[in-house]
Amino acid sequence: MRNFLTGIFLTLLVIGIVVFLMVKKGYMDFNTDQEPSLLESKLAMEAVDSSTDRHAPDLKNPIAANDENLAAGAKLYIAHCAGCHGVPSNPDGQFGRSFYPTVPAFFKDSPDMPDNQNFYIIQHGIRWTGMPGWNRTLSETQTWQLVTFLANIEKLPPAAKKEFDQLGLSAPAGTPGAAPMPISH
Ligand code: HEC
Repeated sequence: MRNFLTGIFLTLLVIGIVVFLMVKKGYMDFNTDQEPSLLESKLAMEAVDSSTDRHAPDLKNPIAANDENLAAGAKLYIAHCAGCHGVPSNPDGQFGRSFYPTVPAFFKDSPDMPDNQNFYIIQHGIRWTGMPGWNRTLSETQTWQLVTFLANIEKLPPAAKKEFDQLGLSAPAGTPGAAPMPISH
């Protein structure tokens, strides 16, 4: 029995060393322009979700979803988030599809997580994905304005929509999504 267990242990050790050496010596692919495997996306997504569940403090959103805060949130979103997370006229964002995994397109799939979890993610970012942590650049109030904006993204009042309209970033009338952004070479 002891030999059997030692055998299993040694086999696992050798597999571990081989994987470690293969990654270290460059056999792992780090390109972003490919689809993550099903296993990889599922495992990574679940790991991020569970970690957020476990770590995000149980905070209540302290600000109201009024015109002022939603317009402020829209402005911050356009300035800091839109290039990756998209705008109504280009829901995939300028580089949303160039990330691995691709960036959630909030104007196609609105974020459905509780406010305290979005607050936590925006403050701290998500390692290995390209989602930056913003707690060094945005105040807590600005972060809550973004959280409130995201929670209301499907029912924005005219005051917040205006921020997109005046920059020509709203979806053309009559289209559910939008025209893709032209790619310049
Ligand atoms: C450089 C690109 C980039 C920028 C800029 C960016 N994000 Fe992200 N964001 C990502 C990526 C990539 C993910 C997905 C990570 C993953 O798949 O788990 C993400 C995930 C998120 C999530 C979690 C979504 C979910 O459903 O799990 C939230 C919330 C979020 N971002 C909000 C923001 C906000 C607000 C801003 C602006 C202050 C912002 N992001 C700016 C790339 C970006």
